[in-house]
Formats: sequence, C-alpha cells, structure tokens
Amino acid sequence: MNICVIGTGYVGLVAGTCFSYVGNSVTCCDVDERKLSLLKNGICPIFEPKLEDMIKECLNRSKLSFSSDIATSVKGADVCIIAVGTPENSDGSANLSYVYDVAKIISTALDSYKVIINKSTVCPGTADEISKIISSNTNCEFDVVSNPEFLSQGRAVDDFLHPQRVIIGSSSKKALEIVRKLYEPFLAHENDFITMDTKSAELCKYAANSFLALKISYANLISNLCDKIGANYQNIKLGMSLDERIGAQFLNSGIGFGGSCFPKDIKALSKILTDNGVNCDLISDVWKINVLQRKIFTDKILNKFNNNVSGLNFAVWGLTFKPNTNDLREAPSVSILENLIESGANICAYDPSNFNKDVFDSKINFFNDKYSALDGADALLVLTEWDEFRDYDVAKMSNLMKQKIIFDGRNALCSDEFLKSGFEYFVF
Ligand code: UDX
Repeated sequence: MNICVIGTGYVGLVAGTCFSYVGNSVTCCDVDERKLSLLKNGICPIFEPKLEDMIKECLNRSKLSFSSDIATSVKGADVCIIAVGTPENSDGSANLSYVYDVAKIISTALDSYKVIINKSTVCPGTADEISKIISSNTNCEFDVVSNPEFLSQGRAVDDFLHPQRVIIGSSSKKALEIVRKLYEPFLAHENDFITMDTKSAELCKYAANSFLALKISYANLISNLCDKIGANYQNIKLGMSLDERIGAQFLNSGIGFGGSCFPKDIKALSKILTDNGVNCDLISDVWKINVLQRKIFTDKILNKFNNNVSGLNFAVWGLTFKPNTNDLREAPSVSILENLIESGANICAYDPSNFNKDVFDSKINFFNDKYSALDGADALLVLTEWDEFRDYDVAKMSNLMKQKIIFDGRNALCSDEFLKSGFEYFVF
C-alpha cells in the first residue's frame, strides 16, 4: 500500500517506519524542514532503540521517503495517517488545532477514495469532526478511522511490531478491510484486531493511559503509608502483583511519572469527564499525588540535612523521565533539581542519553560517567532507573563519596548491599 504519514514525532515516525519495514511505500511528512533533512540522511531526530537502523534500511530499499509537501503525498496515498501533536491547552483539554489543520490539507488534496487514520490522541468525537471538515471541501469518497497508539517510548519499535492489541474505530466495512490488511503483518492473533465505534476507540486511549497512571499513584500512596508505619512497600508490591487480577506492572513507587503522555492524558480525561458532568476527582487526584511525590522526595533530602543543603554536592544518576529515552518532558528530575538548586545545593549529574542540557539550570555540572559525578558527593540521588545503574561497585562508590547517603527515587539499586556497607539508604 501507499501510505502518507503526517507528523514525524514518536508516533508518526515509528508507525511510518514500521509500515515501510514490512513492505509498504511510505512518505512521512512534516513541516519541520530541519527534521526532514536529518531523516532524509538516515539520521533519527529522536533517541529510540532500533529506529535509526530501520529508517536507514527502509531508505536504502526506497520504501521510505520524507517530504514537506503534504498535499502531493496525500494524493499518491491509499491511506493517510494523522500523527500530529495534541498539546495541552491551559484548561487541560487536548489542543486539536494541528489535527484539524491536517484534515483541511487532506480535504483539498483528496482525489480518490482514501482511508484517513487518526493516530493522534484526541477527545471522543474528533473523528466525526475530521469527517465534517473533509466532506465540507470535497465530493471524494473517504473514511475516517480512529486508531489510538499505545507504543511506549524506549521500546516503541517492538511495541509497534508486536502490538498486544490494535484498536480500530470505524463502521465502514471497506475501511476496516484495508486497515486490517495494513496491520496483518503485526498481528500475532486474529483477535488482537479489535473494532469498535470511533468515540469508543478515541476514549480507549485516555482510559488505558489514565488507568496506568492511577496504578502508579496508588502505588505511591501505599508506599507513603509504608514509610509512615514502618512497612516495606516492596513486600506489599510483591504480595499484590502475584494476584493475576492486579498484575505486576505499573506498581513501582518512587518520584512518580513524567513524559509526554500520562500527565497530559489524565488532565485531558479530567476535562472530558467534567465537560460531560461526570465527577473527575479520582483522576484529578492521580495528578495531585504524582506532583506530591516530587515534593516528598525533596523534603526527605532537606530533612536529612536539617533544611540546609546550601553548598552541599548532590550526585544525580538519571535525568530522563524513564530509561532508554532522551526525553525530559515532564521529567520529575527537572522540578526536583530546580528546588534543590534554589536551596543552594550543587548538582553533579550523569544521564546515559544525549538529553537536551538546555532544559536545566546552567548551575548543573554534567558528567560523562556515573562515577565521576559521585566524586565528593554528600548524597547520591537516583532519578531514572537506567540499567547501567544496577551494575555498580559499592566500594568504589564509598571511596568517592564524601557522605554515604543514597536517595533512591526509583528503587533501582539494591538497598541491602548499601546498608551492609554503612550507607544510609532512603527509598520511596
Ligand atoms: C505511556 C504508555 O505506557 C503508552 O502505552 C502510551 O502510548 C504512551 O504513554 P510512556 O510515556 O512512553 O508510555 O512511558 P511508560 O513506560 O508508560 O512510563 C511513564 C512514566 O511512568 C515514566 O516516568 C515512568 O518512570 C513512570 N512509571 C512507570 C512509574 O513511576 N512506575 C511504574 O510502575 C511504571
């Protein structure tokens, strides 16, 4: 099939590359010429395992191209995929203006029947709006299909190639057949392809992401209680997770969630609930608890040092909102470190990714490896659970650090090993 993907962010670029990888001819469009010129040269503008190699391979096979000419790319396509950003409005709702702008461009370029797949995260009813915009400008036949994307940063390619489920909102038999064919190479089981109406498909994304965020805030709530009463959350997590109805994932306590999805999606769901007269307290509290985790972490550090961290050196391991990405959007590290710097602390940070240093206050000293950052440290703060942090030399750390104190915001290291070696160890 000929596919035109509009938007080369995480979702668009991964989807376009994976569809191309299995033999489709894909043009990925964007308005950002700088990004396009990188991509045309096989350079991936985002840090995502496997993606750059796949882009290069698809370019070599001439199955993938990049263009800023959306209208021409739409004309040559059987399927158009909308994958543009839906940033947060000041009231928490998703800003749909980029989606609607793309719908207008598609409407003027439509020259034959096409399936328009919306992958952008949008509020229920958006597919209908897209249809209205397109039909107001053309007599051509088309179908708008809602196809929320569930890929997770850091393992986006694997998530796309091996989806646990593909959700498709559409009532058009013709469109469903085309979209099923498109996804066939990725489906392990026939039943993984789930069809429903467009509104349900759109809401499914918010419902799933908010539920995962809710699990994390619940884990943090129980972990905070453990801290107060002297119980061990890791034991409770184990006890809960062995119940298949609960499951083991998204129960890690710590400094809370960040990233481009959970924070935005729970706020958007709160707004959708409120707009429809449904009480949103449960979802609003998920965000409140999440923000509080960062304060609880900072307060524990301040308490330990009698509210005076001025001139102290804190080593930081990990800055990104999760491992295997260079993304700092809504990363808990940003606000935590801002607060500590404001209180006069010196920060010596190391993160394994090529993160954007400009996001941080210039007062942070960045290091190229985890041990250099520890030299003379009054405490180590673990803010992202990169795999390489689990492989450490306790004796070497003891020698480097001025004070043997660890605040493990991700429960990433083995506390027992450090406690045995005379460290003070704080978990969350
Ligand atoms: C999420 C969803 O998982 C994905 O399905 C959706 O398409 C996009 O949003 P992502 O934001 O890439 O993916 O990361 P995810 O792995 O879900 O983690 C989100 C945040 O939650 C991270 O900051 C992570 O550190 C935190 N987290 C995750 C916890 O604090 N505890 C956990 O148990 C799990």
